[in-house]
Amino acid sequence: MTRPTTARSNWAGYYAAGEGRDVRDLVVRGAAATAAPGRALDLGCGDGTETAWLLERGWRVWALDVTPEAMPLVRAKAEAARAGDRLDTVVADLATAALPAADLVLACASLPFVEPGAFDGAWSRVRAALRPGGVLAVNLFGTNDSWADAETGVDGMTFQARAEVEELLAGLHVVELTETEWDGPSGRGPKHWHRFDVVAHA
Ligand SMILES: C[S@@+](CC[C@H](N)C(=O)[O-])C[C@H]1O[C@@H](n2cnc3c(N)ncnc32)[C@H](O)[C@@H]1O
Repeated sequence: MTRPTTARSNWAGYYAAGEGRDVRDLVVRGAAATAAPGRALDLGCGDGTETAWLLERGWRVWALDVTPEAMPLVRAKAEAARAGDRLDTVVADLATAALPAADLVLACASLPFVEPGAFDGAWSRVRAALRPGGVLAVNLFGTNDSWADAETGVDGMTFQARAEVEELLAGLHVVELTETEWDGPSGRGPKHWHRFDVVAHA
C-alpha cells in the first residue's frame, strides 16, 4: 500500500471543513506573553483565523503558507476586520522561506509538515526571526503520534521526542511547554495525537 504523504494533502478541503472554526488558543497564549502588538509571523497560516485575530488586536501580520488557496481566505478575513493594510501574504515553503524579524512567531500545527531533512534549517530561521524579547508560539508533534508510525504514518513529516523539543528550545526562556496525547479525529480519520504546545521568549 502507498503511504500517504504531506505533498498530497488536501489543505483546501481542510480549510473548507473548518470554516467558522474557533481561534486556536495557542495564539491567545502567545500574544498574552508579548509586551504589545507589533509584527507577527503566522507560519502555515491556513484559513487565516489566527491572522485575523491578531489583526483585530492591532498587530501587523506576515502570513505565510505553501498552499495558494489559503491566501484569498486570509485576505477576506483581513478585509472583514478592516485591516488589509496591516497584512502581507506570502506563498512559500517553510523548508526554504526567508523570514522577516518579528515580535511574535506563530506556527499552529504547521512546522511538523516540514520534511525531516529541511526541519533544522527551518527551525534555525524561525528562531533567527525572533526579535530580542520576541515570543515564539508553536506546535510540534511528538513521536507517539499515529502519523509518526513506521507502518501506517504519513511521509514528509517531522516528529520530536520531548528531549528533542527541549533541545530545540535551548537558550530561550520557556513560558510554556505542554505535552498532550489523546485519541481523536483528523482530516485523515481517527488517530492518536501527540502534540507539544510551546510558548517561549527570545
Ligand atoms: C494543519 S494546517 C494548520 C493551518 C492553521 N495554522 C490552523 O491552525 O488551522 C497546516 C498548514 O500548514 C501548511 N503547510 C504545510 N506544509 C507547509 C510547508 N512546508 N510550508 C508552509 N506551509 C505549509 C498547509 O498548507 C496548511 O495550511
